[in-house]
Amino acid sequence: MSKRPAARFVCQNCGTVWPKWSGRCEACGEWNTIVEEPAEARAASARPVRGVASAGGGVKLEGLEGIAEPPPRIGTGIDELDRVLGGGLVPASVVLVGGDPGIGKSTLLLQAAAAMAAAGRRVLYISGEEAVDQIRMRARRLELAAPGLEIAAAINVVDIASTLENERDVSMVVIDSIQTMWLESVDSAPGTVSQVRSSGFELIRLAKSRGFGLILVGHVTKEGALAGPRVLEHMVDAVMYFEGDRGHQFRILRAAKNRFGATDEIGVFEMTDRGLSEVPNPSALFLAERRGNVAGSAVFAGLEGTRPVLLEVQALLAPNSGTAPRRAVVGWDSGRLNMLLAVLETRCGLRLSGSDVYLNVAGGLRVNEPAADLAVAAALASAVTGQPTSAGSVYFGEVGLSGEVRQVSQADARLKEAQKLGFERAFLPRRVARGRNRLVAPEGLSLSEIGHLADLTA
Ligand code: TYD
Ligand code: MG
Repeated sequence: MSKRPAARFVCQNCGTVWPKWSGRCEACGEWNTIVEEPAEARAASARPVRGVASAGGGVKLEGLEGIAEPPPRIGTGIDELDRVLGGGLVPASVVLVGGDPGIGKSTLLLQAAAAMAAAGRRVLYISGEEAVDQIRMRARRLELAAPGLEIAAAINVVDIASTLENERDVSMVVIDSIQTMWLESVDSAPGTVSQVRSSGFELIRLAKSRGFGLILVGHVTKEGALAGPRVLEHMVDAVMYFEGDRGHQFRILRAAKNRFGATDEIGVFEMTDRGLSEVPNPSALFLAERRGNVAGSAVFAGLEGTRPVLLEVQALLAPNSGTAPRRAVVGWDSGRLNMLLAVLETRCGLRLSGSDVYLNVAGGLRVNEPAADLAVAAALASAVTGQPTSAGSVYFGEVGLSGEVRQVSQADARLKEAQKLGFERAFLPRRVARGRNRLVAPEGLSLSEIGHLADLTA
């Protein structure tokens, strides 16, 4: 008697499988995300699996030739994308690109696909969201000149797989998006965790066996987590997020996982009506709208991955109308702001507790470095006193609870960037300037060492 496959209850947010339905997923805490799905068909794994030993596929650990060589790379034709990938796309690797709907994922990948095709490589752009004519129209609007780029509208993974099985010399395949892909053998709708996982698995298997680089596009929910596609995170080689504030014209590609490169690299793009253009010098863009001589503003010499980025930090104090004071932060950590406010008040005697405090990292970038402390403190102190910080100064340094200013990494890269953009003075931790590897100030930049926050606010 054949047993009917038992139903499974799968959280559509995190992919956890539960034996029965419930209103809240205990694994990720989300409500109303658990959906009944039929037991997964053995789509790809139904084929007889040969034992590793009997297949004769064992390889000895020692004596491998060329093991230390870095993986080969294929340039995508978009430097900012290559940088985040770790120097280009690795053949047979799989990259998941996530981002909010409408953020520009299709535009970015169509541009990359076209650039690669224009360089003479075979590239397939497969869309499950748009018809071929729509993709053509988009390409025309973006003025992409790549007659060799192959585009297709398809959602059936078996069809896609049988096409790709017979193709040779394909360098890159873009699947836009994984949520539209559909395997007939899996009895649930496209976009469900079961479909995303099974379709993803099948496509990844193909990429590995045929040797092409695979880019899977995945839509993200507002919460910032890759929803359905999150179940693919551990199967792919790299996970990237395309982010940006809808109100701002620039977009940032950030690696969250990368087997072939660093995860702290970012690629910066500017949105135009002809698509995304690369921003090789983000500092100039982020500082473009800065106005000198305004109290409450300071320039932070930050670091994103290996790349120095100068950003404007803005602070505003408003008299509090008797309620609990407000602290609103955009682009920085609110816990850190509270800590700095306490240090400024207790150690430096600045009166802040009676005011509402607003802090903003101009341009929409999110700063995660503690090195921003000194710039934030300078902006706050300037807002309190009404004295603008000098327009030609940059700040970096971490602040401790006793008000001491602590050393941060890569001071020389930060200083060089400040000099490049015409800044004249840098406020930095004392130990950086006095350390064993004594810093040499770039020409035209004077260094002001700050040992304690009180030196800055005095
Ligand atoms: P799209 O690439 O379709 O976003 P996603 O694939 O992430 O959902 O972009 C959304 C819209 O924005 C689309 O109508 C095109 C437009 N757009 C531009 O006009 N210029 C740009 O530089 C970008 C990135 C998008
Ligand atoms: Mg799209």
